[in-house]
Amino acid sequence: MTPKKYVRIWGNWKMNLTGPETDQFFDSLTALKFESRAELDAGLFVPTLQLERALARGMKLGVNIGAQNAHWEKSGAFTGETSGPQLLDVKIRHVLIGHSERRQFFGETEETAARRAISLLDQGFHVLFCIGENRTEREANQTLQVLEKQLMPLLALKGKGLDPARFGIAYEPVWAIGTGLSATPEQAEETHAWIRSWLDKTFGASTSALSLLYGGSVTPQNLGALLKKPNINGALVGGASLKPDSFLSLCQIALS
Ligand code: PGA
Repeated sequence: MTPKKYVRIWGNWKMNLTGPETDQFFDSLTALKFESRAELDAGLFVPTLQLERALARGMKLGVNIGAQNAHWEKSGAFTGETSGPQLLDVKIRHVLIGHSERRQFFGETEETAARRAISLLDQGFHVLFCIGENRTEREANQTLQVLEKQLMPLLALKGKGLDPARFGIAYEPVWAIGTGLSATPEQAEETHAWIRSWLDKTFGASTSALSLLYGGSVTPQNLGALLKKPNINGALVGGASLKPDSFLSLCQIALS
């Protein structure tokens, strides 16, 4: 397989791993001789409490570290939230926004997800914005309408454009997350191609440099076939990013 110019492999640890387990992960990754390369953007979205620890260890290996969420306001009465300035203070510059678990369990809406993304981009963050349909919506042939509804509030960024260096989209069908039932490479590519053409049309400029990551039961077994597709520029990986050996395999496959 011809290596793509730039591949992104980001893990999403969700609410997993304590401090000592985080240290163990990086100890093993170091022992496995993890090596970063210019063509690979490897990173992990870790729980808030592990951000500083993971960053100190990740920096040595060339693994980027990001937060799993952040608020649109810079400070204020928002109990339980984390702000951009607080993340910048501990040198975190990457953030995941609008993950389906935030939408499903914590009341994140199209508007609040977009509001977070827009504010954090303004504050200089790298944002990975998640979208995806659930099983009922896919079965009712509503996938594209659902994705369009999730993307639409980003139109507020039209004047500024979407900076491919700091903005990416993760397409994660909810029915594929944590189920072992990944979308097929063809299903994922079809949707990614639609997302790209929608963005091109709506933003009135080519988004060919913008990275579109696929997420949902990605493993070392299915990643290679997904990455062969022209509009799949990387993966957002939950379960398979929690083990250092499989995270390493994912990164190696991305480079092969
Ligand atoms: P999964 O999770 O790889 O365990 O399916 C993906 C995600 O939720 O980002």
